[in-house]
Amino acid sequence: MKISKIPKMLAKNRTGIDAINTVRDAREISKRKLPKMVWDFIDGGADGELAVAANRRSLNEIQLRPRFLTDVSNRDSSIQIFGNKTELPFILSPSGMATIAHPQGELAVAKAAGRCGAIFCVSTASGYTLEEIAEVSDARLWFQLYLWGNEEVVESLIDRAQISGYEALVVTVDVPVVGKRERDLANGMSLPVRIRPRNAINTLRKPRWLLGLLNGPDITFANLAGFAEGDDASSIGEYTDRELVDQTRTWNDLEIIRNRWNGPLLVKGVMTPEDAINAVDSGADGVIVSNHGGRQMSFVPGVASVFESIVHAVGHRAEIFFDGGIRRGEDIVKARAVGATAACGGRPWYWGLAAGGEQGVEKILSVLAADVDRTLALLGEEKYVNVDQRYLYR
Ligand SMILES: Cc1cc2nc3c(=O)[nH]c(=O)nc-3n(C[C@H](O)[C@H](O)[C@H](O)COP(=O)(O)O)c2cc1C
Repeated sequence: MKISKIPKMLAKNRTGIDAINTVRDAREISKRKLPKMVWDFIDGGADGELAVAANRRSLNEIQLRPRFLTDVSNRDSSIQIFGNKTELPFILSPSGMATIAHPQGELAVAKAAGRCGAIFCVSTASGYTLEEIAEVSDARLWFQLYLWGNEEVVESLIDRAQISGYEALVVTVDVPVVGKRERDLANGMSLPVRIRPRNAINTLRKPRWLLGLLNGPDITFANLAGFAEGDDASSIGEYTDRELVDQTRTWNDLEIIRNRWNGPLLVKGVMTPEDAINAVDSGADGVIVSNHGGRQMSFVPGVASVFESIVHAVGHRAEIFFDGGIRRGEDIVKARAVGATAACGGRPWYWGLAAGGEQGVEKILSVLAADVDRTLALLGEEKYVNVDQRYLYR
């Protein structure tokens, strides 16, 4: 082997935080650290994964108009969301089971978000309880809820989030059934995680991850412990499938939640102007335009393709957030240019967590923050809030 090749090889195999300069770096490092079934669970989408690709493609098609020789010395990426200032216009989307990527899971994510001035939306399916997460960080926290059939569970989660100081409630509406994730089926991936003959060899090749799994908390829907017959992962998993998923839910049910929740209410998973109007008419203060990162269905367009039609329909009646395919700060600025209040993302922080725990998430958020700042300078704009459709090439 040529000696000159060694530095390149070493660079390729660097797995520390300092090797993360982009979201793509974190994705690659996490690929080396996680068993294939876990990495595919995070990376994959539903069916043919066309919606995953469409999210990226539709963002790539947006181009921004730079203007030069304007004074951009006083830049500011902050934004007001529901009356409070947030430094980073990026919300960490609710993504369940973060303990699968790192034993510190959502605790690490909440701490990193707090330090970077970002909002973290905690999933109902978090690996730690919503109380445990609220306790460890001063980040602004939102709580995501599914419109499940069991009133007792739904009401208790709403009340617990309220008592623990969560600022907003996000109701995810795009899961009447769970999408068919072909990679998960092929890998024998399930929640709770089970090591099966199909995934055993690959899992054993990642001893550090396995050690974390064995020493860390049980990988389960921690918020639901106490509702299922047992508190172990498989009882809770079976309980969720059997008791909670409810396909009879309608927009009327949102109004019931609206009446119980004291604070901003958002609906996540909207992909049409009609549903955005339904959400706002049912009392939502915010709409998260999202196809669940392509994880629920493959047949929908990318978020950027439908975004402006939804902004047009909703007007100033609600805040509108962009969720899906954000990988760089320039994407966060593009989201603003098509009319978003701010952008949201799931896989970027998830990969950061897998790659480097709390510091990995912090690194991803600081990379995105620096990207946004640089993009503003290159656009000739000092303030993120001022970015609008004037910055779009049409
Ligand atoms: C591993 C993983 C788990 C997720 N779990 C949830 C969830 O529990 N609730 C939810 O509303 N969305 C969930 N999502 C979707 C995210 O909230 C978000 O819509 C999606 O990740 C956005 O696309 P992006 O990953 O390209 O940023 C999950 C996403 C990932 C990657």
